Order: sequence, then C-alpha cells, then structure tokens
Amino acid sequence: MWKYAAGSVVVGTALYGLIKYFAGGVCRCSARLDGQVIVITGANSGIGKALALELAKRGATLVLACRDTNKGLDAKTYILRQLKNENIKVFVKHLDLCSISSIRKFSVNLIHEFSEIYALVNNAAVFYHPQHLTEDEYEVTFQTNYLGHFILTHHLQTLLKNSVHGRIVNVASEAHRIVNVYDLNAVTKCQVEFRDHFIAYGVSKLALILFTRELSKRLRNTNIIVNAVNPGNVETSIFRNFPALCNPWLYALQWPIRLIIIKNPQQGAQTLLHALLTTNRSTGQYYSDCKLALPSPIAANDKIASEYYQLTLEILADKFNTESDC
Ligand SMILES: NC(=O)c1ccc[n+]([C@@H]2O[C@H](COP(=O)([O-])OP(=O)(O)OC[C@H]3O[C@@H](n4cnc5c(N)ncnc54)[C@H](OP(=O)(O)O)[C@@H]3O)[C@@H](O)[C@H]2O)c1
Repeated sequence: MWKYAAGSVVVGTALYGLIKYFAGGVCRCSARLDGQVIVITGANSGIGKALALELAKRGATLVLACRDTNKGLDAKTYILRQLKNENIKVFVKHLDLCSISSIRKFSVNLIHEFSEIYALVNNAAVFYHPQHLTEDEYEVTFQTNYLGHFILTHHLQTLLKNSVHGRIVNVASEAHRIVNVYDLNAVTKCQVEFRDHFIAYGVSKLALILFTRELSKRLRNTNIIVNAVNPGNVETSIFRNFPALCNPWLYALQWPIRLIIIKNPQQGAQTLLHALLTTNRSTGQYYSDCKLALPSPIAANDKIASEYYQLTLEILADKFNTESDC
C-alpha cells in the first residue's frame, strides 16, 4: 500500500513541477497605477482580458478597444464583478484594426476624452484567419496584427507624450523566428498573394518587433518606452481557426497535455504586466517570461528595422502619413 502512496506522491510532485515550469514567469512588480489610463486592443478575450483585470486590480483606468463592443461590455462586467470596486473606471470603445477609418475615429475619440494616456498595449491579433483583403486592401492578418497597430500607435503618440512616463507594449510571439528576410519582404510587398497561414502570422509578429526596435530609436528623446513581449503558449480563442485545435476530437486528444504545458490567460498576461510595471526603463527590447530575451537575429537587426519602417510607410502610401495624420 505504501508503495502506491509513494508512487502517487512522486507522480503528483512531478506533475506539479511540470505545470509550474510551463506556467512561466510571474510579474513580481508591486507598483500601483491608480488613475493611469491604459488602452488595450483586443481586450474582450484571452490575454487582453486577463491583463485588463490585473491592471484594474492595480487601480488603472482602462480603455477596452474591441471590434465587437458587446463582447467588450461583457468583459467590462466581468472585470467589475471580480473587483467589486465601483471606483475602477472601465471604458469600452469600438476599434476595428482592419479599418483605417475605424482606427482614426477611435483615436480622435480618445484625444477628445483624455488629456494623456500612460500606456498602449497593442495586443489584438488573428491567427490562421481565412485570408482576404480588408477594406483598405491589405491582407487581413497583416493589417490586424501589424499595420493597424502601426497606425494606431502613431495616432496616440501625443497622448502618450503627455504622460510623465508613457509605455507602448507590442504583443509579439515566438512565431517571428520562422520568418526569413525573403518572406518578410515578399509578404509585405505583395498583399494580394496569399501565403501559408503560419508564415503570414510570423511575418506580422516579426514586423511588430522590428517596429518596436525602430520606434524606440525615434522616441529616444521622449518619455515613451516601447517594448515587445512574448506571452508564451496560452489557451485562448486565437486558435479558433487552427485546424489541429478547432476540431473537437483532435482537441480532446491533446487536452491532457495542454493542461500541463499551455498557460492560462492570467499566466499569459504576466510578461505584458511586467513590461508595463517594471522600473527598468530600457526600450526597444523583447521580453519573454518576465525577463529580457533575445529575439531572432533578423528582429534584432537595426538596419532591417529602419528599412522595414520605411517600407511600411511606402506600402501605406497615401492612406497614412506620419506628418499629416498624427
Ligand atoms: N495564445 C497564444 O498562445 C499566443 C502566443 C503568442 C502570442 N500571442 C499573442 O497574444 C495576443 C492576444 O491573443 P490571445 O491569445 O489572447 O487571443 P484572443 O483571445 O483571440 O484575443 C485576440 C483579440 O484580438 C481581437 N481582434 C481580432 N481582430 C481584431 C480587429 N480587426 N480589430 C480589433 N480587435 C481584433 C479579438 O476580438 P474578437 O473577440 O472580436 O475576435 C480578441 O479580442 C495576440 O497578439 C497574439 O498574437 C498569443
């Protein structure tokens, strides 16, 4: 009998150790953010919603930027119920990153409503989305994950500059590592030629890290720091179109393993939280598991980052201009 008991303890301890290991880093910063305005794109679900709750616990005023405001209102209700604190302010605003006109309207509304914002979290994304062109004629994954955030960030820079310490957090992914320079340029320059979904996603995330790097240089003499973050593998609805996970039978087969090796959204939000709260004001960096990490050599290349910023402006052409639109 004691052999079974000892065996159960060993297996239990090993499982617990594995779950803790895969849960990743935990943000230990105890700073409060009372009244500081933080804008989170795609805040109605997954990592964005979990982050919103963590920030609300620290007193932040939240702007949940969602393409479906009903889902945003549900998230707001959830956050307020969890906190039972009537002093927390949560605003739900419509933002569709697939529409430059929606991004403009959202930004103008924010500029009228707030005099400053402490942080912008560029979190929204799609993965394995059926490929099509947006109303602005860019590929949907590219515009949602990268171009939309590129434009939004420029529109909100004045509000960020008005804050004592502004922060921009770009939510990236380890998927950026699968992309080579050829794919990066090919996908960016030719929006109508559809590609492998994983490459399309990887390009959008590499683009965000390169943007982080170049923007940090352009904002060198300001109060704003900008960093990219890898949340790790997290159980969220981002996999809704991913064949291996949207099939309920395949999902059920993987479920016991996923329970051990995949983070829950609260765990996934830790590195984002860290980037928003840490007293380390380094900028242009890549964080993973609440620590500074090295991105791929392409993502860390200043020359590629600078050229890619120019290429982005070129493909935006007359649709967006950093001089006149901000
Ligand atoms: N989960 C992971 O394993 C993982 C790994 C690495 C990186 N990430 C990154 O983590 C971030 C959060 O993803 P998640 O896992 O939390 O996924 P999620 O639950 O699917 O959240 C994505 C959010 O983006 C929103 N969104 C999609 N298209 C949009 C658009 N056109 N305009 C505005 N919002 C839009 C979604 O809105 P709807 O609810 O209306 O669709 C949703 O709120 C993403 O940047 C993702 O790439 C996730």
